[in-house]
Amino acid sequence: MSDTKQQLEKLLANCVLELATADEEGLRNIEVRLLGRKGEVNRLLAAMGSLESAGRAALGEAVNAAKAEFAGAIAHRRRALANELSAELGENDWIDVTEPGTVAPAGHKHPTNTAIEEMSALFERIGFRRARYGEAEFDHYAFGVLNMPKDHPARDDWETFFLDAPENKKWGKQVLTPHTSNAQGHEMERRRPPIRMVSFGKTYRRQSDVTHLVMFHQFEGLVIDKGINLTHLRGTLDHFAKGYFGADRKTRLRPHHFKFTEPSFEVDISCGLCNGTGRVANGTSCRVCKSGWLELGGAGMVHPNVLRAGGVDPRLFSGFAFGWGVERTMMMAAGMRIPDIRLIYNNDLHFLNQF
Ligand code: PHE
Repeated sequence: MSDTKQQLEKLLANCVLELATADEEGLRNIEVRLLGRKGEVNRLLAAMGSLESAGRAALGEAVNAAKAEFAGAIAHRRRALANELSAELGENDWIDVTEPGTVAPAGHKHPTNTAIEEMSALFERIGFRRARYGEAEFDHYAFGVLNMPKDHPARDDWETFFLDAPENKKWGKQVLTPHTSNAQGHEMERRRPPIRMVSFGKTYRRQSDVTHLVMFHQFEGLVIDKGINLTHLRGTLDHFAKGYFGADRKTRLRPHHFKFTEPSFEVDISCGLCNGTGRVANGTSCRVCKSGWLELGGAGMVHPNVLRAGGVDPRLFSGFAFGWGVERTMMMAAGMRIPDIRLIYNNDLHFLNQF
């Protein structure tokens, strides 16, 4: 019995000490520890169950008295805290507890990311799988696999950054991907046809002015299967153009040259302002396109050498590929007319908050 009394005294002493400096959270902790359902007071009361009835009554009284003391001391400290708070506020100050707090500003997706998601969804809807390959790349994948042997003049079209990194015996120097076509070789190594892939990525070229960015994004489409021909390419491009720009838009292919496709094309889309005529209502020539068409990007049937380099037999399989710039496409679709394309990545909130 005296044992329990000693325990009570100790608890009380500790409680008084702790309460002297407790803040609101400290108060709640002490309250739970002493008076809570599994607290000290209930623990002592439960332990008494095993005592004889005579001692039990006296002890019960002691525990209950202590309980009242704890509660009183806690309530006292709580009042003192409240007074401290109101002492800080002048006599006529008051707190409006219903006033809304300060809202932290929420960001939103960068317009390029939104565009990538929308574009990707269009391809995924017709069975393309989304892939992603690195930004630091070996010469072999950026050029070699793509039918551009070392020192081939076609490489000059991609003003490439070379990395100050060790050369690989088999794959050559390292570069920052100047186009997303490096995805083609990787994809063919990774899986056997049928392949239906779209890959978005960052691309880097030695160019920076009001219409060019050092870093921009491209997407690459690659389809390889038995019996793939130009009509499949046209259908895919039409699906994308109508989905992204509007059902009334048309595409056309213009002969071009890439080392990794044969035949090769540049893809144009009919101008949304003059409807592909090159003339506006009063007969003057269209300001936006001049000729009725706007250039979107490159495309073509995958060159047999590229298929072979990727381990695909060109006698059994054929394919098409296309690739073009995200920022340009996004700006064209949104009718964005900005004086300097570099604004997109200057992190200027005046610009970004408009999207
Ligand atoms: N990689 C080419 C470029 O950057 C575009 C392209 C991709 C052309 C695929 C044909 C096929 O200009």
